[in-house]
Amino acid sequence: MSAVPQRYLITSALPYANGLKHVGHLAGAYIPADIYTRYLRAQKREVVFVCGSDEHGTAIPIQAAKEGVTPREIIDKYHEAMKQDFEDLDISFDQYHRTSEALHHETAQEFFTYLHERGELETKETEQYFDEAAGMFLADRYIRGTCPSCGSDRAFGDQCETCGRTLSPDELINPVSTLSGQQPVKKKTTHWYLPLGKHEAFLRQWILEEHQHDWRATVVGQCKSWIEAGLQSRAVTRDLDWGIALPLPDAKGKVLYVWFDAPIGYISATKQWAIEKGKDWKPFWYDEQTKLVHFIGKDNIVFHCIIFPLMLKLHGNILPSNVPANEFLNLEGDKMSTSRNWKLDMRDYINDFVKPENGGKQCVDMLRYYLTQIAPETKDSEFTWKGFQDAVNSELVSVFGNFINRTWVLMHKLCGGKVPRLHEGLLDEHDRQLMEEIRKSKEHIEGLIEEYHFREALFQVIDLSRKGNQYMQRKEPWILAKQLAEKPELQQLIDNTMHLCLQLSANLAILINPFLPNTAKKMLHMMKVVDRMLDWEHAGKLNLLSVGYYLRPPELLFRKIEDEEIRIQVEKLKSGTVMIEKNEIAASVTTKKESVMKPEIVFDDFAKIDLRVGKILAAEKVEKADKLLKLQVELGEETRTIVSGIALHFQPEEVVGKQVVVVVNLAPRKMRGIESNGMILMASDEAGKLYFIQPDQAVASGAVVS
Ligand code: 2FM
Ligand code: ZN
Repeated sequence: MSAVPQRYLITSALPYANGLKHVGHLAGAYIPADIYTRYLRAQKREVVFVCGSDEHGTAIPIQAAKEGVTPREIIDKYHEAMKQDFEDLDISFDQYHRTSEALHHETAQEFFTYLHERGELETKETEQYFDEAAGMFLADRYIRGTCPSCGSDRAFGDQCETCGRTLSPDELINPVSTLSGQQPVKKKTTHWYLPLGKHEAFLRQWILEEHQHDWRATVVGQCKSWIEAGLQSRAVTRDLDWGIALPLPDAKGKVLYVWFDAPIGYISATKQWAIEKGKDWKPFWYDEQTKLVHFIGKDNIVFHCIIFPLMLKLHGNILPSNVPANEFLNLEGDKMSTSRNWKLDMRDYINDFVKPENGGKQCVDMLRYYLTQIAPETKDSEFTWKGFQDAVNSELVSVFGNFINRTWVLMHKLCGGKVPRLHEGLLDEHDRQLMEEIRKSKEHIEGLIEEYHFREALFQVIDLSRKGNQYMQRKEPWILAKQLAEKPELQQLIDNTMHLCLQLSANLAILINPFLPNTAKKMLHMMKVVDRMLDWEHAGKLNLLSVGYYLRPPELLFRKIEDEEIRIQVEKLKSGTVMIEKNEIAASVTTKKESVMKPEIVFDDFAKIDLRVGKILAAEKVEKADKLLKLQVELGEETRTIVSGIALHFQPEEVVGKQVVVVVNLAPRKMRGIESNGMILMASDEAGKLYFIQPDQAVASGAVVS
């Protein structure tokens, strides 16, 4: 491939259309891809950036069952919601497609047929769990049982929810179908497999030799351990009623495995883009002069570096040039988790921050800034609200924003609102040093972006503005201005300083554009120049703004994040978790806006729950668990220990003596080594504040609630 590829195809992992995505996803696969694409566009290279919703797999029917709707309703709802989130955060896909489209079904089926007809797939008959009551084979997630490792009964056919161990359905003790609640039976079934082992030599050569230096060490490392562990054939079909039908006769009830069809979604999305733009999609997938780059999170490495490339090779396509996978982003000291609600959804950020009265699009750039500054490029990293506030206030506002603002204010005050001329004969060592910094920054920053070091590249942009501040501080044009009456010739020195600061500002607009496009746009407006100025080729130049040209008055690029905003977010996060832990700890009646009504139940379901009035006799904090209180609850004759997740809301002494409603027939559960024998009902308001549910007058403890 020549030094500069003829065209680029950039992909971001297709998110599952089973729920809203959080900022960990955004930092992992979407912002880096967007930065890279915007940079390539500014370089005027031919680039197409594709993504779309991943709408197959068991994740979809499972979510549908949870929400009591059809799978189709789920994918329609979340496809639209995710698409909107990306748009609102300025992720500039050229095509955001979806895998439920006919175009994708045809593309994936053609792909399968091609491999099948050339004998690249193996078939095998195996025994798999079958639910006789439901009349279907059970996907791993549909089988529940006891974990062979930790003994928890919250283990599924793919993973134990308690200890996290990866499992296969055969390892589960006492497997039960989650569909019917019955014990599944083993039944023979045939599936199609991609024989990875057969291609081991190719995979070793291509990944571990050809790409050992230009791919991230974490990516090569993960591939290496996979290869070393022995490459097994992988089934590419499933017995499921949701997915892309197998394009073969006598394969009724079989669909393509979601991880077979999803990456082919990149091809379908390119086709859709080509249809809409009247272009040819083929060179993007067949011409060696195309640079294909997949942006993903680390959980997708194996699929994008081993399985999909092998599929592409066997299908005659080009292979990815790089797969810059990111590690994970944690949140306030813990892993982000949808099931525990320990996360910050993109939508929540948009709703809370991206409002006109809050600075609107400024807030998009503030989030993009922080997520790039902490991007988990080499190891897991951490989002904290305090870190967000610090990054915005002490870097964006106090360094970058401050430099631009000072430049504009002084230029209007000391140079009549026009770009002053440069008096070359008067340039001193500081001026020349700044000019040199501007010239060399282009090459430095583009080198970092081309190598996918976005975090460092952004740091260099901010650092250049920091140098601008230092330069201005050294020059102190406002002091010179005070002496103009006696020494009018000082105006020339003021002009030089302001001229260079303005040329630096124009450079900063170009360099910040891939990262913070809204900021660059605002700077263009202040400079009264056209979009073309942001073309990357202009970076490093010192004549971007013409002498004598009038510029607009300054506008604040960023606002400060107040302590109160941060406090609210932290509180919201913590109360959100208590809400989820309610399932195991304390039930709550919620008015939270994101809560959904559960599916209808019949009276008999309700009648199974035994509710009683209890009285809290004693309460104490649970060691090393800041959310838990250990309570002694009197229930008529007996007193029970109940562990409740309310410690962030109530001090132990506040709750003693309170009457509460308790679910008394819930199976005992251990939390932090303490057996909890019941669950206390709580209500919570919009802000997440918790309230006890109590009888309106004191009643004897143990009284039945019905
Ligand atoms: O992990 C996930 O969210 C998958 N839906 C990613 C698919 S990426 C690609 F292969 F489509
Ligand atoms: Zn376990």
